[in-house]
Parts: sequence; structure tokens; C-alpha cells
Amino acid sequence: MKSSSSNRNLHTANRAKKDEFYTQLVDIEKELKHYKDQFRGKVVYCNCDDPFESNFFKYFAANFKELQLKKLITTSYSGSPITGKQLSLLDVEGLKPEGKEPFKIEINKVSDLNSDGAISLTDVEWLLKHDVNTATPLKEGGDFRSQECIQLLKEADIVVTNPPFSLFREYVAQLSEHNKKFLIIGNVNSITYKECFRLIKDNKMWLGASIHSGDREFRVPDDYPLNAAGYRVDDDGNKYIRVKGVRWFTNLDYEERHEELVLYKKYIPQEYQKFYNYDAINVNKTLEIPKDYDGNIGVPITFLDKYNPGQFEIIGLGISNSGIEIGVKPYKAEHKKYRKEIQKRGAVDGDLYMIINGIVDVPYARILIKNKKVKI
Ligand SMILES: C[S@@+](CC[C@H](N)C(=O)[O-])C[C@H]1O[C@@H](n2cnc3c(N)ncnc32)[C@H](O)[C@@H]1O
Repeated sequence: MKSSSSNRNLHTANRAKKDEFYTQLVDIEKELKHYKDQFRGKVVYCNCDDPFESNFFKYFAANFKELQLKKLITTSYSGSPITGKQLSLLDVEGLKPEGKEPFKIEINKVSDLNSDGAISLTDVEWLLKHDVNTATPLKEGGDFRSQECIQLLKEADIVVTNPPFSLFREYVAQLSEHNKKFLIIGNVNSITYKECFRLIKDNKMWLGASIHSGDREFRVPDDYPLNAAGYRVDDDGNKYIRVKGVRWFTNLDYEERHEELVLYKKYIPQEYQKFYNYDAINVNKTLEIPKDYDGNIGVPITFLDKYNPGQFEIIGLGISNSGIEIGVKPYKAEHKKYRKEIQKRGAVDGDLYMIINGIVDVPYARILIKNKKVKI
């Protein structure tokens, strides 16, 4: 049997591996094109991004002039297991510090530095090679929670990155505490984290514009264990995996989130089950929300892909403590028992449930909403 400390090491290693997903440039471009005007004159900070490895750095450096950025700050992290050798994006041989010493790169302007008649990544490379002040070491490890990085955060207007999955709650909490604009990648299930849901409910965070279904490909370190379905190795031996349930999370506005969702179904009581422990109907697919129903409605979390705050009001989340907070009644003893004994599933008070043909049915996390524009 493994000792608890080696178990912990394994756990830490697994967690670290899960944190090393490198975003593809094409996914960054597809999302960022919705917000171009909002970056004009702004200080952008990528705080989980080794500039020699991150496509976020590459995107902002290459588009510095077009976006009319004021400044780009990028910091790397000492705990990152990747070395620049593996994922180097820029031709700046000898510039990347050896080992894992974290550092910061700040760019204030990118002009046609190498005088080749165009402004592109080669100018950024030129800058990195010729301006000694561009790259500087960090003293506190590059952790986004370190004082050194918090100072940079304070200076920033917009934070853009794919933060470590294992620290997503903490990461979002820090952005919110410092009242920052942000555009970050995460997993759709993060919606169910209490802290994240509160921001969504209060209209302080929403899903981004470009990803609403399917999976996305991310580059992973060379030693990543590839036994999962959907992995690929390219001609150069670089590894990629496809990840389901990816979404952008942001508080930058974009046009499409104000478009009205067209509903076509009418409310027929026999077609919509009511929850046993809360006064609301259950809807399994967002498009099946009845257009004429005036009461509370429980919808899947993917409803947020279509959420227009002018059309719907979010009441709460029907799971565990979040459910209890909004008045979802605890399990009746016999239903709790049934679920545990017969269905062999955990029964957590605060979860919305139904009784269908005498059987306890608990749908996957439901968001409770109300239609503000009921059409009779
Ligand atoms: C999901 S990866 C994304 C990397 C890069 N942003 C991208 O999208 O290509 C998250 C990165 O954050 C780093 N990281 C982990 N914990 C961190 C922390 N506490 N502070 C800053 N960076 C951290 C990881 O090592 C990893 O490189």
C-alpha cells in the first residue's frame, strides 16, 4: 500500500499535469475577434503564461499595434514543468533563461524595429533580443497570487489567459476582488462552483462568444500520459489532446449575448415534470423552454450558452448548498434512502429532484431561471 505522502505526491503530480494544457492560437483568435475595440489603449496581463511558450503572448505581441494596446505584461511560473525548449514559439535562441527561473516580459510598443517594412512577430523577437529591459527575472516564483504578480495585476486593465484548472476558483476570486476585466478559458462545470455561479447570477461574469459545444484541442507536455481517447501527435512529435466542455469566461460584453433566444414550445403540463422539492418545472434542453411559462424553470447549465440577460432572470443553482440557499427543500427521508440504496447514488440536500413513476430522479445540475418576456 502507498503511504499517504506518496499518494499526496501522486495527487499533486496529476493535478500539475491537468494544469498543463496549452491553448492553440486559432482558438485565441476566434474569441478575441469579438472584443477588439475593448482593448484599445489598455494594459493586458497574461499571468499564467511563459512568453516563450504561450500563444496568448504570441497573439498580443503580434497584434499589439492593431489592437492599439498600451502595454503587454506576461509572467511565467516556476512550478511549470515545461521548459522553453519544448514549446518555444519565438526565434530568440539563447534569450530564454535556463531552467525554471520565472520572468516577466513587458512590451510598451511594437513598431517596425527590424525595418523590414512590416510589423510582425519578428519585431517582437527583435525587441527581445535588443532591449535588455524587456525581460526581467521574478523574485517570488511567478505565482499569480504572489505580491509581485498582484502588483502587476493592479496595473492591468484586462487579464487574458488559460489559468491552471486546479486553481480556477481562486483565480476567478482574485480577478473579482481586484475588479478586473478578464477573458479566460475554463471548464463548463466551473459554472457550478458557488463562487463562479454567484458572479454569473449577478451578471458579473458570462460565457464568451466563440465556444458553445464540442471539444477543443490543447497542446500538452511531451511526457503527458496519452491513454485518453482523442489525442494526436503531429509530425514534429508534439502531443495534443481534445478536451470536452471548454468555455471562455469573461466580463467583456459582446453583441451576440443580447440576441433573443427564439422559443417555439407551448407549456403543456404533461410534457414538463415539476420538481418535488421546489416550485419549478424541469426542462432538459434549452430550446424546449416553453415560451408562455411564467413560473420558475430548471434548465441545464449549457443554458448559459444562450443566456441573454434581457430575456431571462437567473434565480439560482439547484444543487447542494446553493440549492438550500434559494429554498430547495431537503430530501424526504424515504427519497434519500431510495436514492442511496436502490440507485446507489449520493443524495445531497439542496439538489432538485423529481419523482417519476415512483422513482427518484435527480437531473444533472439545473440552473433556475424565469422568462422575463413570456409570450402567450
Ligand atoms: C492551462 S496552462 C495554460 C498555459 C497558457 N496560459 C496557455 O494557455 O497556453 C496553465 C499554466 O499555469 C501555470 N500555473 C500553475 N499554477 C500557477 C500559479 N499558481 N501561478 C501562475 N501560473 C501557474 C501552469 O504551470 C501552466 O503552465
